[in-house]
Amino acid sequence: MAIIHDRDADTLLLLCRAGFEADCAAELTERAAGQGQGGYARATREAGWLTWHQPGQPVAALMPRTLHSGGLVFARTAWPVLGHFEDLPQHDRISPLLAQVAPAGPFSALRLEHADTNTGRTLQRFLRGFRKALEPALKKAQLWDESADRILHLFFEDSGRGLFGCAAAASVSPWEQGIPRLRLPAAAPSRSALKLEEAWLRLMSDTEQAHWLAAGRTAVDLGAAPGGWTWQLARRGLRVTGVDHGRLAAHLLDEYPVSHVSADAFTWRPPRPVDVLVCDIVDKPSRSLALMEKWLVRGWAKVALFNLKLPMKQRQATVSSLLARLEASLAEAGLTMQIRAAQLYHDREEITVVVLPGQGGA
Ligand SMILES: C[S@@+](CC[C@H](N)C(=O)[O-])C[C@H]1O[C@@H](n2cnc3c(N)ncnc32)[C@H](O)[C@@H]1O
Repeated sequence: MAIIHDRDADTLLLLCRAGFEADCAAELTERAAGQGQGGYARATREAGWLTWHQPGQPVAALMPRTLHSGGLVFARTAWPVLGHFEDLPQHDRISPLLAQVAPAGPFSALRLEHADTNTGRTLQRFLRGFRKALEPALKKAQLWDESADRILHLFFEDSGRGLFGCAAAASVSPWEQGIPRLRLPAAAPSRSALKLEEAWLRLMSDTEQAHWLAAGRTAVDLGAAPGGWTWQLARRGLRVTGVDHGRLAAHLLDEYPVSHVSADAFTWRPPRPVDVLVCDIVDKPSRSLALMEKWLVRGWAKVALFNLKLPMKQRQATVSSLLARLEASLAEAGLTMQIRAAQLYHDREEITVVVLPGQGGA
């Protein structure tokens, strides 16, 4: 019998950075085991996507609690699979698809997705045209209702074959393929600026952003040069101290509330505590983490946002043990903090972590 509601689905479709399929699968294995469940992944190396199967057990519990917390670190987006389609005829792909997805409708939005690989990207043109045909067809078939809070996802392996599913907006990435379309303004001193923007869009709610990334707040940027992250914070009105032996872009110091300290980030201590600490230093992940622990435990910063580089083979196991270590050391210091982590679209062999005051785990 076909599954028509995502709460009954026992398969997840996940999109990730190509090469991280095994990390994604390992993370799902760990998460499912934590819920007393078991399953298996079907993945191909470098495919940029995978499926997770738990026959007879709903995958709903694996989905994030909210958009910003409880997500999977290595998945850009994930949704419950309701079925698959194949051999869509070239002359009319729409009719058979509509017939398949109809029992799950109506839908409030449509996401057309493909793997973020060279092969996957060859589908982009086809999908642009297909969207133009499918959206009106959904409306005509009365499968479109903007108040429905059910997003129809179609994942294409090629133009005739793929998977479809459905999810409430709050449980899936707001972006197609989990990739935000961010533009780099000319004033940004480096492309890294996009990474910080994606980090707070993905890992902080609007309320948290408005609270912490607001005019009048103070911030330290460790490993700041040439200044993309510093610029992102400063343009929101934070007063930023950039710490780096390298130089910051000159216009940052002239036009924004930014000061530069030429020092070693691992030994420098701030003259007074700040609200927000960010760190983009390329170093061993355990060393970067120890630096963040020091700042948070000593109360030098209330919020931290940083990268952990992952040059090793066992990336998921490393992330899991590092985040557990961070959680334990914060708890030991009597701090109640939320740890959220994700491999962002702009992250290569690394993940980004946000630590915020309040209840909730990684
Ligand atoms: C990836 S870059 C940072 C890019 C920056 N986030 C941006 O948006 O432009 C890493 C920086 O860390 C700095 N760095 C590395 N080790 C450091 C240390 N021990 N103390 C201070 N800065 C360090 C490097 O000089 C380099 O500028």
